[in-house]
Amino acid sequence: MKILVTGGAGFIGSHIVEALVRRGHRVRVIDNFFSGHRGNLAAVKADVEILRGDCADPAAARRSVRGIEAVFHEGAIPSVARSVAEPLRCHRANGTATLTMLLAARDAGVRRFIYASSSSVYGDTPTLPKRETMEPRPLSPYAAEKLSGEHYLRIFHRLFGLETLSLRYFNIFGPRQDPSSPYSGVISRFTTALLAGQTPVIYGDGQQSRDFTYVGNVVDANLRALTARGLDGEPVNVAAGRRVVLRALLSALARELGRPDEARHEPARAGDVKHSLADVSRARRLLGYRPRWDLEGGLKKTTAWYRESHRLRDRRSG
Ligand code: UD1
Repeated sequence: MKILVTGGAGFIGSHIVEALVRRGHRVRVIDNFFSGHRGNLAAVKADVEILRGDCADPAAARRSVRGIEAVFHEGAIPSVARSVAEPLRCHRANGTATLTMLLAARDAGVRRFIYASSSSVYGDTPTLPKRETMEPRPLSPYAAEKLSGEHYLRIFHRLFGLETLSLRYFNIFGPRQDPSSPYSGVISRFTTALLAGQTPVIYGDGQQSRDFTYVGNVVDANLRALTARGLDGEPVNVAAGRRVVLRALLSALARELGRPDEARHEPARAGDVKHSLADVSRARRLLGYRPRWDLEGGLKKTTAWYRESHRLRDRRSG
């Protein structure tokens, strides 16, 4: 099948691209290289067509979907905190870009459109675990942008018959997650701080909890979404289905890396959700999805990867 992955040079996108290439699909990537890197595609670069372009630019979007049967829309600026600081810029990358890609896909006759949504759309729902039938209550511009994308997908399914699916990712981590921005995912931040001999920062009391999900599970859910029957435009949770308190996560990482288990506390971030845990039964029913990697297994692979990149960087600069 001829497939487009937006944000394909990014953390999650590049893992999806690799898996698609391994299965013999023809893959095109569109990426603006805002947070993606060509190096993320090093293993498959001979087999992938790479377009530099911005998904919010209609001309680039139209070019990217020519001849394409299915789209994985992973391109985004994925940060709650950054969306609080820079809402318009994030809206363009997360909201406008999604609508622009949907329009381009519809006009090019794309059959299926799979979208990287986010657990943040739930906000602080009073009940755990979070189910797709609960009313979303976004707490940040990021969550509102991701939710608007879900609505557009549902509408494009109803109005134009595009086969759409929104996958609500719950705190994804793994190799290649970029740790370099203060807005980067917490596992990448903690791991690289520990490796550099620095004290990780915890925003708030550290008692917030997350359903941290290894990137391999996300790839698996996306591959299943490519062929699943009965897509009705409604969203699906993708998660490990287990909740871990942030302070305990830091202890586990410090143990794994043999570093002191210490943290510096700063005030909680605006827009932050307190607790997050998914019910993955709809994903099981619709996609046959089961989390194949648990937190411990995922952390081992991830810390090994950061250790190796840290060693290579040291060797280059030494
Ligand atoms: C949110 C979404 C997630 C989405 C992600 C965008 C929720 C529950 N989750 O993640 O599905 O994929 O946005 O990428 O809304 N923290 C620290 N120290 C740090 C960095 C972060 O204490 O150095 C804290 C944050 O304040 C937060 C937690 O760790 O409480 C997780 O933060 P982060 O990894 O940025 O992800 P979320 O904002 O939870």
